[in-house]
Amino acid sequence: MSGPYIIAFCNQKGGVGKTTCALNIAVGLSLLKKKVLVIDLDPQAHLTYSLGLDAHDLKGTIYSVIKGTVPLAPAILALKGMKVLPANLELARLETEMAGLPEKESILKKRLTEVSDVQYIIIDCPPASGLLTVNALTACREVFIPLQMEFLALKGMGRLLTLIEDVKKQYNHNAPTYRIIPTRYDARKRLNNAIMDKVRERFGDRVFKAVIRENIAVAEAPSFGLSIFEYAPKSHGAEDYFALCREILRKRPAL
Ligand SMILES: Nc1ncnc2c1ncn2[C@@H]1O[C@H](COP(=O)(O)OP(=O)(O)OP(=O)(O)O)[C@@H](O)[C@H]1O
Ligand SMILES: [Mg+2]
Repeated sequence: MSGPYIIAFCNQKGGVGKTTCALNIAVGLSLLKKKVLVIDLDPQAHLTYSLGLDAHDLKGTIYSVIKGTVPLAPAILALKGMKVLPANLELARLETEMAGLPEKESILKKRLTEVSDVQYIIIDCPPASGLLTVNALTACREVFIPLQMEFLALKGMGRLLTLIEDVKKQYNHNAPTYRIIPTRYDARKRLNNAIMDKVRERFGDRVFKAVIRENIAVAEAPSFGLSIFEYAPKSHGAEDYFALCREILRKRPAL
């Protein structure tokens, strides 16, 4: 299929590693010579801040692009060898403002048809299942679900998978599939191992073989506006994210 390959990073559970994965995978794919656009679709604007951008100093954001007040091209920044469509706190208003619009679920998808010269679009979603997430699910070809191997990790999965199914039926006939990224993994924790076994047993090939370990450098890097590859290129974090990026590409050899 032509056009960029769109991946939405979703999990309505907060703090599971969506933004960290979206950012480091976007940079990792760029380092592997892919043309990447990363979009911050979370009103918290964590991805924007983690890239060292000042959210008050932006020409355009995903909010203005979706609203149609700023065209896509001038809103996109060139940064770390990739393209970035940032966010600011204004995005929080969008859900209410969009509520009455026709085809409100597919506005993002429509805007993204204007993107050119990009192979992968990475979308960082908020920890919610509202209209922003529905727009991402409608636009994407794949949903990547970062998952921590903890007691309650699987609790929200059922709801998320139902949402993906519903969106697929109603708005996205591209039929997106989902894959799971095990994040913040600590092999010393027995519970982590037990839950990892359970997740692999239940979801099989949908679980990436590459696992992102708990790594302090991964948590520190955003406060310097850096990806893990710039901040600590020899860390476990950089090693894990590179392995994950290579696995993503192995499964998408055509791009
Ligand atoms: N592999 C890791 N090792 C250590 N800390 C990590 C790792 N991955 C993420 N973190 C830390 O965990 C916290 C949550 O991560 P992140 O912000 O990526 O989650 P999120 O799912 O995007 O959160 P939200 O739902 O609020 O958007 C952050 O402080 C981040 O630095
Ligand atoms: Mg986030």
